[in-house]
Amino acid sequence: MKSIDVSQIKEDDQQYVLHSWAKQSSVHPKVIQKGEGIFFWDESGKKYYDMCSQLVYLNVGHNHPKLMEEFKHIGEIPLAAPGFATASKAELARKIIEVAPDNMAKVFFANGGADSNDHAVKIARMATGRYKIFSRYRSYHGATFGAGNLSGEGRRFYVEPGLPGFIKFETPYLYRESIDFESEEAATAFYLDRLENQILYEGPDSIAAIFMEPIPGSNGVLIPPKGYLEGVRALCDKYGILMICDEVMSGFGRTGKMFAVDHFDFQPDIMTFAKGVTCGYSPLGGVIVSEKVARYFDDHVLMTGLTYSGHTVSTQIGCATMDIYKDEHLIENASAMGNILAVRLEHLRRFDSVGDVRHIGLFAAVEIVKDKKTKEPIIAYGMDYGRDKAGLMGKFVSMLIEHGFYTYSHESSVMIAPPLVITEQEINEAMDIFEEVLTLFEKKYLFTGQSVIAN
Ligand SMILES: Cc1ncc(COP(=O)(O)O)c(C=O)c1O
Repeated sequence: MKSIDVSQIKEDDQQYVLHSWAKQSSVHPKVIQKGEGIFFWDESGKKYYDMCSQLVYLNVGHNHPKLMEEFKHIGEIPLAAPGFATASKAELARKIIEVAPDNMAKVFFANGGADSNDHAVKIARMATGRYKIFSRYRSYHGATFGAGNLSGEGRRFYVEPGLPGFIKFETPYLYRESIDFESEEAATAFYLDRLENQILYEGPDSIAAIFMEPIPGSNGVLIPPKGYLEGVRALCDKYGILMICDEVMSGFGRTGKMFAVDHFDFQPDIMTFAKGVTCGYSPLGGVIVSEKVARYFDDHVLMTGLTYSGHTVSTQIGCATMDIYKDEHLIENASAMGNILAVRLEHLRRFDSVGDVRHIGLFAAVEIVKDKKTKEPIIAYGMDYGRDKAGLMGKFVSMLIEHGFYTYSHESSVMIAPPLVITEQEINEAMDIFEEVLTLFEKKYLFTGQSVIAN
């Protein structure tokens, strides 16, 4: 390996690189020197449990030997513009359709999550001849102008005033719902009723698609109440609206099944993906369309495209990644290890600062509160992104990282989404660190014997 001059990297980084979602003066990044499985090491040799798979994409773990080997074969398949057929593009599209819900037929390749969502919006508009797009408040769909308009959380404010025709509705978030529903089914009925009203108010004939993360990830792993997604599907059918599921974060085994939608009893019309398709070893995303949508474009021009649609290097890495999922039984491992993680997460409920834990497979969030009774969040809504760096959530996540538990938070939830290769022992070691840090944090900042220290 090339030797690394860490101080030069840091100096150049500070001087020349703009970092995402941050006040640049507060960015002092570490340099990853080495990675292996669920671990990475920084420039000082300190070891971290990567408990968020970087940005929930490194499903096969760091430095996977088969992917490193695959890179040696890059160049054997010639580079080719999107108009050509290539072995890796054709093979990856087939491999994705083989594991997608059985109504799915074709793949349009893009570069990452956000632009995949942009293309999905265009495809839905073309296929329906309608223009309005519904999406949800507690959602993140990416940072491009289109995906930013789809996103419902605070990161959308920077693309506002928004595009006409992008309509938001509420995500069921039962932990923070002020109505005390007698059952999940009652909650489902309530939210579906509201959604149907909104569809009627907006004019069903103008609505092309309802866009949703089946399980919103960054916004706190919000698992929908029973029957909710099936109910949205029924509303889509009733009004001729396409249902688009953003599986960028939840796809490729994260939830213990290939796609999050596989946990439920419905099929979307369109799905978008990125992250886990290559596990970030090379950038790639895409849009999967149903047989019905695919057939529409047999006789209509697909008015969208990208220079790198189906890029040879990324699709080759994608093919190798798909083989690893299968050969190493990673989806099965995510499900089995998800059960181990679930026990440790449920055990966290005994902490006074843990308001809620939500988990499915290796996709989990721990919601931290100042007060369990009032559910006052540890960070007020909308105060992420530098506005509350010195606040309690910032302190908690820094403490976790200092202790070798690498992750990030969003609003009042801490993400726990390790690589799917994790073992039972590694989960237990990492969760021991989490508990130790939470104990220290509560003592130091929250329950000091006096009143709770304000942010
Ligand atoms: C659900 C979801 N959709 C879209 C995106 C955007 O993906 P990208 O950052 O690759 O554009 C993300 C990123 O975290 C995501 O979680």
